[in-house]
Amino acid sequence: MEFPTVRMRRLRRTESVRRMVRETRLSVEDLIAPLFVCPGENVREPVASMPGVARMSQDVLARECEELFELGIPAVLLFGIPDSKDANASSALTDHGVIQEAVREIKKRTPELLVITDVCLCEYTSHGHCGIIKDGEVDNDATLLRLEEMALSHARAGADMVAPSDMMDGRVGAIRRALDENGLYQVGILAYSAKYASAFYGPFRDAADSAPQFGDRRAYQMDPPNRREALREVALDVAEGADIVMVKPALAYLDVIHEVRQAVDLPVAAYSVSGEYAMVLAAAEKGWIDGERVMMELLTGIRRAGADLILTYFARKVASRLRIQAGVE
Ligand code: PBG
Repeated sequence: MEFPTVRMRRLRRTESVRRMVRETRLSVEDLIAPLFVCPGENVREPVASMPGVARMSQDVLARECEELFELGIPAVLLFGIPDSKDANASSALTDHGVIQEAVREIKKRTPELLVITDVCLCEYTSHGHCGIIKDGEVDNDATLLRLEEMALSHARAGADMVAPSDMMDGRVGAIRRALDENGLYQVGILAYSAKYASAFYGPFRDAADSAPQFGDRRAYQMDPPNRREALREVALDVAEGADIVMVKPALAYLDVIHEVRQAVDLPVAAYSVSGEYAMVLAAAEKGWIDGERVMMELLTGIRRAGADLILTYFARKVASRLRIQAGVE
């Protein structure tokens, strides 16, 4: 059958019919809010390159987390900005580090909120690389030992899941073993399985003060043109015990998200990174695009590509907008 019997526009005529036949839905359950924790009290320091995003001290952060949970957001991902850095990332491992304290504070206030912590050394190393440096290179296996300790420390503070974002080989398996050997088998791993060496991380490095002081991350993060390699990375992380696999960034990697979704049965997350957020806000500020509509379109596209979960700095705004649309407010 074809035109004029078939008329595609019948199913587009009204909002009710469009709602009914909509194939992809963005809902609040899909969202994970990334947040930055800094030392101090009562601190809320805006990040210039990410309007609407701030570094928060643990007291302010705990209040923010409670509000996010009340809006229906099930999970947060925490990044720490420590007060001191050294070559071995010592401040990442102390029981009273920024993340460890923040996790305890959030759990006291909002125990049901799922707290995920970023496990990577770059925010804690003086050189800004994601691992321990030996002879001018990031040493994979020496880094694994540090990451295990870091994950254990977060888990002991009460983190529900840890998210290794360093791209060292074997880290998911190493962290899984370390957690299990210490009785922390209930703590999950959200693996940054296919993380690309991307220029979209620029604003984040401002926010987390984690830009590498020499060289770049191309010797450990993935080369952007590669798709098959992402599937190998994902397969390894699944074999090593990941609970959720992630693709990062999202916007320029929708094909990778799609293929990963086809390839595994685990939940697939996509990280819509700082540069994606900053681009939308910058263009909206200039009046060149409708920022809110672009935000919804972009995140819906990431879901349509196959992501079950989206990490996005828009989480709070999306949650509010979805409530308004649903007539809750
Ligand atoms: C740390 C890390 C980065 C991001 C998340 N974890 C930066 C990097 O790898 O340089 C980027 C997140 C974003 O841009 O929103 N390894």
